[in-house]
Amino acid sequence: MQHIDLCKIDDKLVGKTVTVCGWVRTSRDSKNVAFVELNDGSALNHTQIVFDKQKFDDKELPGYLALGAALSVTGTVERGMKEESVEILAQSVTLLGASDPTYPLQKKRHTMEYLRTIPHLRVRTNTFNAVFRVRSALSYAIHEYFHNNGYYYVHSPIITGSDCEGAGEVFKVTTVGFDPTVKSEEEYNKKDFFGRSAGLTVSGQLEGEVMATALGKIYTFGPTFRAENSNTPRHAAEFWQIEPEVAFADIDDIIGIATDMIKSITKYLLDNCKAELEFFDARFENGLIAKLQNVADSEFARVDYTDAIEILKKSGKQFVYPVEWGLDLQTEHERYLTDEYFKRPVFVVNYPRKIKSFYMKQNPDGKTVAATDLLVPGVGEIIGCSERENDYDKLLAEIKARGMKLSDYANYLDLRKYGSVPHSGFGLGLERMLMYVTGMSNIRDTIEFPRTKDELR
Ligand code: 4AD
Ligand code: MG
Repeated sequence: MQHIDLCKIDDKLVGKTVTVCGWVRTSRDSKNVAFVELNDGSALNHTQIVFDKQKFDDKELPGYLALGAALSVTGTVERGMKEESVEILAQSVTLLGASDPTYPLQKKRHTMEYLRTIPHLRVRTNTFNAVFRVRSALSYAIHEYFHNNGYYYVHSPIITGSDCEGAGEVFKVTTVGFDPTVKSEEEYNKKDFFGRSAGLTVSGQLEGEVMATALGKIYTFGPTFRAENSNTPRHAAEFWQIEPEVAFADIDDIIGIATDMIKSITKYLLDNCKAELEFFDARFENGLIAKLQNVADSEFARVDYTDAIEILKKSGKQFVYPVEWGLDLQTEHERYLTDEYFKRPVFVVNYPRKIKSFYMKQNPDGKTVAATDLLVPGVGEIIGCSERENDYDKLLAEIKARGMKLSDYANYLDLRKYGSVPHSGFGLGLERMLMYVTGMSNIRDTIEFPRTKDELR
């Protein structure tokens, strides 16, 4: 269909005849003229279409003004009432798709909860149009960052036989149904598609390490899955992760890389998503743009886990989870550290070994690992990061001590046998980052089709 995107309609086209397409967002009918605000997804702002009622039949006009209707409009571009604005005076209109009067997005403002019940239509609101435009721009910025810095984009498998994080949150993949004759789990697994147990990946890291110990610098960018039995505004069962893995890099190197990446992608959004960020600043988080400018321009904080525990103890706050060394920081602790104490992104470094994953490099103290989480105000953890244990014996002992199945990690261990090198990586949760840059307070509002506990639409 010959037409131009609405974002291209500007005052250079005044006097020209154009054809545009889009969906009716709002409409207004008065005595001699009618107006439609048309949107085709190419820009946050709508374009006003003006109908001279003498030209359009009383029978056809209501169809054009129906909220949600899809139109193709040919008309002349004219200057609008507002400064620098333009509108289109309709000459001919095709109703591409009529919209039923039951269209759920009527003129009032809907709650986010209600909009989640209509995931197929919520993207036609200004808020979600903006969220998903920023999601696209952010994804692009991430790819651009890694490509500009010499990383290879690799594809880790979705179906795996290991549990990278060891948290027991793997969704099972199976083709075998209920069979009362099966006596044991082992027998059940043998009958299954792969002849062994399989699940959806919780992280592409283990395969990422394989690729990094040959290609040097890699990143993955794909969906990951966790059957976390928690119903929080920050957890999704399906979320997208960006996981760079870097050979010949220690914990300080990878913290530098994570910082540089976050700053770079934030700057990209400030430069390329101005209208959307202004919208979020006005509607969802006052001061959002200033906050992001600050992220792009100033240093992040860094604190040792042990010192963070002292800060929390001295805070005078009553936490639900009592603060003791060895504690896995909960949302309430993370929020105190970022929102109230540091008031900016902070890397918490050197966590207790017991609360972290098996693959993390053990520090000489024997108690802590070279791991860090990046916490940000308002959201909490957005990045989980570590240097990897590259000593064969230490890694083997850790796998055994945790009761993990050795055969699932044989290849991974081999990497420590054939040219083992110091290497490090991190995982950035795309939706968590989106929460931070849009001010959305619920992760469900940053992903097109949220999958969470008891929720699959
Ligand atoms: O801290 P996590 O569990 O780290 C890993 O998976 C490592 N293998 C990463 C690596 O070193 N390559 O998860 C990384 C990030 C978290 O910081 C968070 O942003 C996000 O993934 N994340 C979730 N996002 C949404 N819903 C969930 N259930 C999430 N779990 C983790
Ligand atoms: Mg983590």
